[in-house]
Amino acid sequence: MQRDPFVVSILLSFVVVNLLNCFRLADAEWVTCSGIVPIKYRSDIISIEDFGGVGDGVTLNTKAFQEAVYRIQHLRRPGGTLLYIPAGEFLTGPFNLTSHMTLFLARNAVIKATTDTNRWPLIKPLPSYGRGRELPGGRYMSFIHGDGLRDVIITGENGTIDGQGEIWWNMWRQRTLQFTRPNLVELIDSRSITISNVIFKNSPFWNIHPVYCSNVVVQYVTILAPADSPNTDGIDPDSSSNVCIEDSYISTGDDLVAVKSGWDEYGIAYNRPSQVITIRRVTGSSPFAGIAIGSETSGGVQDVLVEHINLFNMGVGIHVKTNVGRGGTIRNITFSNIYIENARKGIKISGDVGDHPDENYNPNALPTLKDIRIKDVWGEKVLQPGLIHGLKNAPFTGICLSNINLRGSPSSRNLPWQCSDVSGAAVEVSPSPCSELTSSQQLGACSSSF
Ligand SMILES: *[C@@H]1O[C@H](CO)[C@@H](O)[C@H](O)[C@H]1NC(C)=O
Ligand SMILES: *[C@@H]1O[C@H](CO)[C@@H](O)[C@H](O)[C@H]1NC(C)=O
Ligand SMILES: *[C@@H]1O[C@H](CO)[C@@H](O)[C@H](O)[C@H]1NC(C)=O
Repeated sequence: MQRDPFVVSILLSFVVVNLLNCFRLADAEWVTCSGIVPIKYRSDIISIEDFGGVGDGVTLNTKAFQEAVYRIQHLRRPGGTLLYIPAGEFLTGPFNLTSHMTLFLARNAVIKATTDTNRWPLIKPLPSYGRGRELPGGRYMSFIHGDGLRDVIITGENGTIDGQGEIWWNMWRQRTLQFTRPNLVELIDSRSITISNVIFKNSPFWNIHPVYCSNVVVQYVTILAPADSPNTDGIDPDSSSNVCIEDSYISTGDDLVAVKSGWDEYGIAYNRPSQVITIRRVTGSSPFAGIAIGSETSGGVQDVLVEHINLFNMGVGIHVKTNVGRGGTIRNITFSNIYIENARKGIKISGDVGDHPDENYNPNALPTLKDIRIKDVWGEKVLQPGLIHGLKNAPFTGICLSNINLRGSPSSRNLPWQCSDVSGAAVEVSPSPCSELTSSQQLGACSSSF
């Protein structure tokens, strides 16, 4: 049978267009953090063993780490230097990183924090906090620390950074802490940071804390701490911009990811927002929040995209939280494609959460919260689908919910949505949300967002 060449070409172009669409779709769906930090290959490689490091789990290697970092800092090889940590348990006190370095943990390499708390120096408080987050005064230096750096990579073959936090958790439980506990990794005022393919375990306090940083990528990490370990947040981007977190598993005793920007009079004065933050393909469990904004948001938080998140056995799936005295604007935050299984609450947005650094906060410094879009959320065994409490003198606006289905638990008494001092809209939300969000004249405020 002879085919009309015209028909053949139409058919062919149809196939080609469909193929192109397929590729485009695939591209659109599998977005990554690439491009935020340039990929670096370092030809200068040194091993911790060249500096006397011993991976027997007993020898204290603080000097070896300090000398290796000193060598990288002062020899300044073009393209930077990779510090190789071979298999073994390298016990050490806290140490600083330097610019243009890669800390590479080989398969079965463990960098283990000493449990001798006297070996942890105190450093000054962050200006946007005015004091340690837990207690007045200074705070313990983080286990792995960086200040004013650029071009730093922490990576490898899924070796482990172990904070041995139990001793610190017990001091917190027994109220014998003198100062704020150390983070596992803290980078201050740094840029071009990549953290990938590493396991973080048993942090004394927050796990990964980039503060006053820009261009930070965290991907393919595993973060583990017991569900009852106090304040072991997973990743807390704080007054930082261009941060991208993806493809990670986090199971800890506090929020899995929490975007922050300082608190009360200190954060308001320092005025450094967190902005352009992406969080995608994160899976995990926690008795507190899955993905949180706040509660320290005094410098503002804006332009955040959270997508493709899977949460199991949670306190709260999505938690946006701020407080009176905090000031700051939280705006343009999008959550989409979130799955929540077994949680006390699916979605919580609240204006009266968290404590204060001291009594000098300004009670008239009210936070502003607007333009929060939450769409395509599914859940099962969620005791309360949502709770939104704005402030009487600063109601939340532009809260837009669409395509949300949060089913309760068949075995317990489930609670309905609860709202106050909030406006916005809800489309295809089940169970049906509070009347504040369903009034039809407000639908227009949201339509452009979907
Ligand atoms: C680490 O860096 C801090 C500055 O951030 C500095 O005060 C401290 O002395 C450094 N410690 C070591 C051991 O180099
Ligand atoms: C390390 O873990 C990540 C995330 O779990 C995984 O994607 C990657 O393949 C692992 N890498 C190696 C070298 O085992
Ligand atoms: C809102 O944030 C997104 C990032 O999630 C950004 O692409 C977009 O431009 C922002 N919109 C406005 C109006 O600033």
